[in-house]
Amino acid sequence: MHIELSDEQKMLREEVRRFAAEVVKPIAKEVDADGLFPIDSIRQAGELGLMGVSVPEEWGGAGMDPLSYCLAIEEISAVCGSTGVILSVNNSLVCDPLVKWADDEQKERWLKPLAAGERLGCFGLTEPGAGSDAAALRSSAVRDGDEYVINGNKVFITNGTHADTALIFATVDPEEKHRGITAFIVDKDTPGYSHGHHEYKLGVNGSGTTELSFEDMRVPASQRIGAEGDGFKIAMSTLDGGRVGIAAQAVGIARGAFHEAVDYAKEREQFGTSISNFQAIQHYLADMSTELDAARLLTWKAAWAKENRSRYSLEAAQAKLFSSEMAQRVTNLAVQIHGGYGYIREYNVERYFRDARITEIYEGTSEIQKLVIADWILNKS
Ligand code: CAA
Repeated sequence: MHIELSDEQKMLREEVRRFAAEVVKPIAKEVDADGLFPIDSIRQAGELGLMGVSVPEEWGGAGMDPLSYCLAIEEISAVCGSTGVILSVNNSLVCDPLVKWADDEQKERWLKPLAAGERLGCFGLTEPGAGSDAAALRSSAVRDGDEYVINGNKVFITNGTHADTALIFATVDPEEKHRGITAFIVDKDTPGYSHGHHEYKLGVNGSGTTELSFEDMRVPASQRIGAEGDGFKIAMSTLDGGRVGIAAQAVGIARGAFHEAVDYAKEREQFGTSISNFQAIQHYLADMSTELDAARLLTWKAAWAKENRSRYSLEAAQAKLFSSEMAQRVTNLAVQIHGGYGYIREYNVERYFRDARITEIYEGTSEIQKLVIADWILNKS
């Protein structure tokens, strides 16, 4: 594993950093405060190839490696956590499984516009009664000739308010438990498909989280991804990739807060001197910087494993677990260094602090990551 970035990766990072500073950062406060879905910046991200970073060029993507994808997500999340997760879901949870599981006809119709950023995707797995226990989902898909009739409800769907296309999971036979779960790709204009209102959340307020409902929604069998019963494996292997993206998002959010804290520590004077002269503040900054680098290295290792191994659940879970919990600690210290100003909306650190919290929950809670890691240690290595 090389930890020196290639020239191409460095160029991508510079390009995304510039895009983040010029386009994403200026509206980040508004996106958060007003729950504004940043649709214009998402379209521009698509033009830069950021909606399908690792999708092969023949299918509309940028054809880059998983580490490049992590670099892009970190840069965007360092200025806006909402925009970071919008990109992450489209890339990892919708494009990636289509690259891996869709046939060429499906790729032509569904993947190409998603990877090019002409359409936006969402991932419909979670249900009111099936969060961590994803295999317990109850949305049903009943075969009727050349179609499936799908009924059910999904919750907490990132991008749900603005998605044109949804990768959804329903069971063809609940008795079969996870072996009945089947994946479908559907258009938002399909009769019977609807989304609820935008959920106002603690953080990542611009990411268009909503419920999805399917009422007697008829979906041609040609829109089934993989075979009947492949859905759970598709969802789980997709989430391995998703967790690497969320680890990169957490690193980005923490980095954004860290830089704000360093700047503030240098500027702020108390007791007649810059607070950066106090050892207490220096220790905070030293811990933050060390933890950030450790999390980034785990994330890059998981990206490397994604590129080089067929299964990388362990590395993805370790990266997500550590990076999300690191982001919690680092953003918390950034608020602490800012003192009272850190608690005020005018300063960015309280937004980073709120945005970091969800990284410990979505795409598998910390507790689920520990289950995956322990399962790997005890049973699979
Ligand atoms: N890759 C491929 N196959 C996998 C797999 C993986 N990573 N993980 C499990 N499988 C396979 C197993 O090999 C097994 O296969 P067989 O049928 O051949 O035996 C099958 O799937 C069932 O595996 P388990 O018995 O381990 O499944 P489980 O029901 O015990 O669940 C779990 C395991 C780890 C708890 C899993 O349910 C899980 O990860 N839950 C968390 C769900 C989650 O992350 N949700 C996030 C929602 S999306 C989101 O958050 C998006 C957003 O908003 C940004």
